[in-house]
Amino acid sequence: MSRTWIDVAYLVAAILLIVGVKRLSHPRTARSGNWIAAVGMAIAIGFTFAVEEIDSYGLMLAGIAVGTAIGIVSARAVRMTAIPQMVALFNGVGGGAAALIAASEFHRLAPGSERLDGDLLVGILFSAVIGSISFWGSLVAFGKLQELVTGRPVVFPAQNVVNALLGLALVALVALTATTEDGIWILLLCVVAAVLGVLFVLPIGGADMPVVISLLNACTGLAAAATGFVLDNTALIIGGTLVGASGTLLTVLMGRGMGRPLVQTLFGAFGAAPAAGAAEGVGPSGDGASVRTASPDDIGYMLAYARRVVFVPGYGLAVAQAQHDVRGLAELLESKGVDVRYAIHPVAGRMPGHMNVLLAEANVPYDELFEMEEINPEFPQTDVVVVVGANDVVNPAARSSPGSPIYGMPILDVDKAQNVVVIKRSLATGFAGVDNPLFYDPKTVMLFDDAKSALQRLVSAVKAV
Ligand code: TAP
Repeated sequence: MSRTWIDVAYLVAAILLIVGVKRLSHPRTARSGNWIAAVGMAIAIGFTFAVEEIDSYGLMLAGIAVGTAIGIVSARAVRMTAIPQMVALFNGVGGGAAALIAASEFHRLAPGSERLDGDLLVGILFSAVIGSISFWGSLVAFGKLQELVTGRPVVFPAQNVVNALLGLALVALVALTATTEDGIWILLLCVVAAVLGVLFVLPIGGADMPVVISLLNACTGLAAAATGFVLDNTALIIGGTLVGASGTLLTVLMGRGMGRPLVQTLFGAFGAAPAAGAAEGVGPSGDGASVRTASPDDIGYMLAYARRVVFVPGYGLAVAQAQHDVRGLAELLESKGVDVRYAIHPVAGRMPGHMNVLLAEANVPYDELFEMEEINPEFPQTDVVVVVGANDVVNPAARSSPGSPIYGMPILDVDKAQNVVVIKRSLATGFAGVDNPLFYDPKTVMLFDDAKSALQRLVSAVKAV
């Protein structure tokens, strides 16, 4: 097939990928967006088979078979709460592939009778360095989130100096590879980049991990785009650039949602030391403040007679898979004339859009979902806020305690509502590992239980009113 037709097909694939990504930005269109992007990817893969230079269809088919099998099994088996580590792993593999292709193309083409073309060399070196950093950094991120290694920041003396020296070594190796075109240097380059990738991610921990994964994702995209230049493949250039751009935007948005500038995320060692008062049951200021608990019957009574109730879902809702139960309670309250809303914090849960996906699964009407900026002014007129398995995203310390690791993070101002009910299993901290003064607020009552069982008990209680 002529190169022109292949490029036309790649263009169609690129348009489908862009439309798909655009549609992912709203829960209503996300599902079809995923399909559209998948069709785009299938077209890109299909037409790549028609590229003349390909000499091993068997190997390509074997790779596709293995990748498809792993993809299908993991998509079905992995729980939604474990998606960030799955993304880290898959993203890392993409970076690793880019680095391997760069190294193998270098070995295939250099040293030849002529010096390598400058554009090609830049693409190879970029893919090798960034791909290798991304692969190894992502593996560490996976290990941390999967709790194979400690999730806390691992810091050692002179860490930044060591990283700076490794950075200098990389620059020297890039220069040596480019000038000598000797294969040994590019291998060393990949090794040093690998060490840098590991040391770069080790000191990052806690709530910063998903942000780093998104950043590594963007790096992988750029490495893939560079590989596209090396292989002269337009689809790879466009696809890689899309991943690079969307990953960068996502990184910025997540940082904004957490109120943490990127530099602080990368070099701030979030949660390196345990936060003061983080121990279970201790008041936020260590002053022995106590919490109030209430029975499902008392809370059911309060809910049934409220004018407006706002549900705040968090990570615990995902763990308990209680999305259908929260909708059940909401519908019951609506049937009693209560105005029900859901408040969605941009970084509630463990991945962007986590709560939207969960609630969409339970068919919660989209017009009942309110973003943080929309719902915050409404809290003072809200009779009851029910916090279901959320913690950090409703922590007033982010507003009022300059010493807190989450100080500056925009939060849902639930403490401004008339009454607050918090459903969680204990006084344990959330992802950020910091205590939450909301639990000790006199207007808050705690319902210590698994979210699913608590919501079911509340349904029975409201029915009995
Ligand atoms: P968290 O602060 O992590 O708190 C979740 C709470 O859920 C925990 O305190 C836990 O308390 C409770 N929980 C766990 N399992 C439960 C169950 N089965 N039933 C009831 N409660 C349960 O969650 P959040 O408020 O959603 O905040 C998200 C955190 O992740 C933030 O720190 C955010 O910065 C971080 N983060 C998120 C993202 C994205 S994109 N979503 C990205 C980066 C970082 P118990 O153990 O006492 O039950």
